[in-house]
Amino acid sequence: MSENKSQQNSVIVESIDQEGRGVARIEGKVIFIEGALTGEMVSYSSYRKKPSFELAQVTQIHKSSAMRVQPKCAHFGVCGGCSMQHLDARAQVAVKQRILEDSLWHIGKVKAETMLRPIYGQAWGYRERARLSVRHVIKKGKTLVGFHEKRSSYVADMQHCEILAPKIAGLLPLLAELISGLSIRDRLPQIEVAVGEHVDALVLRVMDPPSGEDEAALRAFADLHEIQFWLQSGGYDSIIPFHPLDAPALTYSLPEFGITMPFAPSEFTQVNSALNRVMISRAMRLLDPQPGERIADFFCGLGNFTLPIARSGAQVLGIEGSAALVERARQNAATNGLAGNAKFAAMNLFEMTEAGFTQLGSFDKLLIDPPRDGALELVKSLGGENAPRRIVYVSCNPATLARDAQVLVQIHGYTLKAAGVMNMFPHTSHVESIALFERM
Ligand SMILES: C[S@@+](CC[C@H](N)C(=O)[O-])C[C@H]1O[C@@H](n2cnc3c(N)ncnc32)[C@H](O)[C@@H]1O
Repeated sequence: MSENKSQQNSVIVESIDQEGRGVARIEGKVIFIEGALTGEMVSYSSYRKKPSFELAQVTQIHKSSAMRVQPKCAHFGVCGGCSMQHLDARAQVAVKQRILEDSLWHIGKVKAETMLRPIYGQAWGYRERARLSVRHVIKKGKTLVGFHEKRSSYVADMQHCEILAPKIAGLLPLLAELISGLSIRDRLPQIEVAVGEHVDALVLRVMDPPSGEDEAALRAFADLHEIQFWLQSGGYDSIIPFHPLDAPALTYSLPEFGITMPFAPSEFTQVNSALNRVMISRAMRLLDPQPGERIADFFCGLGNFTLPIARSGAQVLGIEGSAALVERARQNAATNGLAGNAKFAAMNLFEMTEAGFTQLGSFDKLLIDPPRDGALELVKSLGGENAPRRIVYVSCNPATLARDAQVLVQIHGYTLKAAGVMNMFPHTSHVESIALFERM
């Protein structure tokens, strides 16, 4: 870029948005600049221009932020997996806390009485669940295994990943080499990763069955690197273990509650098991379940919060949309000796009504942990007389948390007692948070 042009579009960055982009304004137009940090003076190049905003990439930094750090990953900027590695790790959490507070205020018109101290976890190598893409690129003469490039359907040419569990990160180039030698290398578009305590499972999506030679190569790789391959020939229900067949079950444990959770590689589990433990501890402290109480755990998955609640002696009903996860949750309750006070039901919670909620009976407290879309219909249904007095809401999307908080506070009369961020996904823009609502 010429000196003149770079001077022309240099701006001061005012803040960072939900996706980790710097936000600047020129004559009322908002410019979202990837790679720019608050307080920096930068030049940028726009890749999309609209009347009210532009999407851009930083091209030059004229005045750098004190919070800027050297990204650890060689693929940062190309790989779409992380967007915040150029920002100091503690500053990332401060940004996420501000995004949470801003969302609550600007979207939900609510403010927490107390902001909880953020929960930090390990900064690197934390990601134990991932969906890796695979592409055999004839032009490059090799197979790529990794995340997608930023804003692209291309697979990033990754030799390593700093946020993936270290063992899996180290296998990326070896997996690429393995797959490039298979007869079905063009028919294997994806690998699902599930790291367990005693085994790491890699689910290969295979559009055609592997040949005998392919099978031998997969077996040798699994034995050498001590992983378990699974094959997926169609939908999720087609996933079957391939090799070794006598591998231990995938599990994670919650030692504070004496709980072990077996799971299948297709089933939802939190991506960061270390932070999951701390998150459950915080959720339990806020919920404070007591023997004799009746509690519901909505969007309960395989019972990640349900079983710790049951361990307190409370009666808990876990509700979840996936029948397979409900079945898994029931088995997990039985395995952990908690079947007496943890019950489960399958239900589409996006269709909850006040009458439907009343039919479930009355609850002292609720835990709600919805997907990104939030839990609008569920929170709308909480207006009746038997509405619970305490709700702990775990969220992976501050915008839907804020929207639902507005319903709870302004329509149903709850108070937002506390809220805080939990850094489940360091270096990415994902904001995981927790909020406590109470009603007199
Ligand atoms: C963020 S996960 C939380 C799971 C669980 N609480 C945990 O910590 O592992 C959200 C859960 O909501 C479930 N879900 C998604 N849409 C749903 C719906 N419409 N009704 C009920 N459950 C749904 C998913 O299957 C998933 O288990």
